[in-house]
Amino acid sequence: MSFTLPDLPYAYDALAPYMSRETLEYHHDKHHLAYVNNGNNLLKGTEFEGKSLEEIVKGSFGKNAPLFNNAGQHYNHLHFWNWMKPNGGGAIPGELEKKIIEDLGSVEKFKEDFIAAGVGQFGSGWAWLALKDGKLIVAKTANGESPLVSGATPILGVDVWEHSYYIDYRNRRPDYLKAFVDHLVNWDYVAELYSKAV
Ligand SMILES: [Fe+2]
Repeated sequence: MSFTLPDLPYAYDALAPYMSRETLEYHHDKHHLAYVNNGNNLLKGTEFEGKSLEEIVKGSFGKNAPLFNNAGQHYNHLHFWNWMKPNGGGAIPGELEKKIIEDLGSVEKFKEDFIAAGVGQFGSGWAWLALKDGKLIVAKTANGESPLVSGATPILGVDVWEHSYYIDYRNRRPDYLKAFVDHLVNWDYVAELYSKAV
């Protein structure tokens, strides 16, 4: 397969004031596009041509760093746009909420741990809620990595590269993460990925 840049599932100004039009224009139109274009160039002539994106991400990890970085970031961003919606945050669908409480203590504890993972990721990377061996875990990864490379299935992720928040929050990464959890998360999409993963 070759990589293509999808349109955002909402208008560029739909996530304001928590994520601005300017951030989405740069992040989607320039950063994500670069991962798509570089990924397509790096894919040519490799054993991964014709494979699915998930197979490319998992297969190139530790073997072909330039391809992995771009394919990994393409995978992460494809989901990231859908992990947000206007008027997000709010109630978590029942089954998923029950599982969060069972595996992670409480919804509040999950939110604290998820934000702490994002704050604690030194430099560029992502914070995650993922399903591993039937249990939900909170994790953080560097650069373009995701829980996919450690045998888990990501169901929610937040981009903590500076390109995701610096225009709107400057150096205040904790404020960005709190706004993401409280006002942006599209829990319906997270629940959909959870149902597919179990
Ligand atoms: Fe990003």
